[in-house]
Amino acid sequence: MSPGDDRAGVAEDGPILVVDFGAQYAQLIARRVREAHVYSEIVPHTSTTAELVARRPSGIILSGGPKSVNETPAPTVDPGIYETGVPILGICYGAQLITQQLGGQVARTGRGEYGRTTLTRTGDSPLFVDWPTRVEVWMSHGDAITSVPEGFAVTAASPDAPVAAFHDEERAIYGVQFHPEVVHTERGTDLFERFLYDVCHCPPSWTHSSIIESQVEAVRAQVGSSPVLCALSGGVDSAVAAAVVHKAIGDQLTCVYVDTGLMRANESEQVEDTFRRQFHIDLVHVKAADRFFDALSGVTDPEAKRKIIGELFIRIFEEVARDLVIENLGADTDADAAAGADHAAGADRAGRGREAAGYLVQGTLYPDVIESGSDSAATIKSHHNVGGLPDDLAFDLVEPLRLLFKDEVRAVGEELGLPHEIVWRQPFPGPGLAVRIVGEVTPERADILRAADAIVVEEVRRAGLYRDLWQSFAVLPAVRTVGVMGDERTYAYPIVIRAVTSDDAMTADWARLPYDLLERLSSRIINEVEGVNRVALDITSKPPGTIEWE
Ligand code: XMP
Repeated sequence: MSPGDDRAGVAEDGPILVVDFGAQYAQLIARRVREAHVYSEIVPHTSTTAELVARRPSGIILSGGPKSVNETPAPTVDPGIYETGVPILGICYGAQLITQQLGGQVARTGRGEYGRTTLTRTGDSPLFVDWPTRVEVWMSHGDAITSVPEGFAVTAASPDAPVAAFHDEERAIYGVQFHPEVVHTERGTDLFERFLYDVCHCPPSWTHSSIIESQVEAVRAQVGSSPVLCALSGGVDSAVAAAVVHKAIGDQLTCVYVDTGLMRANESEQVEDTFRRQFHIDLVHVKAADRFFDALSGVTDPEAKRKIIGELFIRIFEEVARDLVIENLGADTDADAAAGADHAAGADRAGRGREAAGYLVQGTLYPDVIESGSDSAATIKSHHNVGGLPDDLAFDLVEPLRLLFKDEVRAVGEELGLPHEIVWRQPFPGPGLAVRIVGEVTPERADILRAADAIVVEEVRRAGLYRDLWQSFAVLPAVRTVGVMGDERTYAYPIVIRAVTSDDAMTADWARLPYDLLERLSSRIINEVEGVNRVALDITSKPPGTIEWE
């Protein structure tokens, strides 16, 4: 599967294209469509009709957006789409755009609606099958549609939206002022299902097993019989990506796991257990803690730590990858290597390297693809857990998750039999515990933090809160404080508990952990972790704080 050939192996029925007018509306709509088991993709509003039609869509949804159609400039869509015969559903901004582009009126009435609103049905609609007359919906609009284009029927109203739903059944164009993608809208799912199944005639065939099947086929088609490498981080994305690729090509896959000494408790054992023992994957486990601690010795600046860890990770991965390339190239290459040939030096050498071990698995997800602005972007993201890889390793990327949202990745992971602990693991930064150890990172201080962190995770899980929290972990500050234990005066480190709720890590709130949980955390950490005599709680939201301490 080349990057421009994303849909290789995806269901034959054309996708639902969700046209993006900004903010996060389009992503939520795309997810709702997929929850109805129909494949959807997000496309920019600047796409031409020809580009949209080329994807053979089963339907087009125009999303909401932060602007008003009466502003200039306001984002529009190529009006040619209304002539294609492809069913169209406009939501909020999308509905207003349909109105404006086809000759109706959208006015600034001065009476917007925000939040829960009662919708009253005033006519029949294929989208409202068996609905009661009144339904609670979620609204968020300043402007209102005051007259619909010729040929359209109005089918619902709300107190401040005289046209809350309208359609032209003949042309299969529908508009709703409310947000069916929001959970507060009763019957929202039902509305999507009617549009998808009855209007667009899409079968509900996008299931987790169909995703796996299609990706397995796509990976096989892409890599043929070439060897493939995958850097495992212990996190969910690389783990699921590896499991999908392994299902596709078995022994052709080699996974590389670099233990930096800065991993969470049991993380390395779990990776070994899952990938080597359960999946029988060829796993290169590089135990590199000493090298990382040496490189970090005496370093206290947060950015310097990140840089050192990132660079060392790359160097180690590169060493392993080159060894594997050389192994695969055989005797010829040994001669080259002995003659000091640089892997990057000659296209010929790089070309042969690519033949031998030229594919690298990466756990890129759909939101990264959308954010990169192009679904054919194949760049390795520098913020990715593996920290970016050297250019001179001529890899092509295998990205079996590039069409999936995070919740789909988790579902696929479960379906493939990955353990819950991996599939539901909270995010963990690439530089690992180092960014939670303020001051110097030493093996002793990493051990203290790891032990405290394991207690936090265990108790949060036991309290049933692990999945509700975005992250919950321990932090080790660089100060020591006085305490008393038994008859002894102590002078030891505090541990800070950091627990946050968040949707996307861009903003976060500190979690209101129950007092009895905090009490258990405090007493267990102080009693069980040597070198700690105090526990504090971080009650800072983001912004102004960040989630990690460094
Ligand atoms: P902050 O601390 O900036 O973190 O609020 C936001 C999210 O990103 C994670 N994070 C990182 N992930 N490499 C990563 O792969 C990093 O250097 C890094 N720093 C922070 C953090 O855990 C949180 O989920």
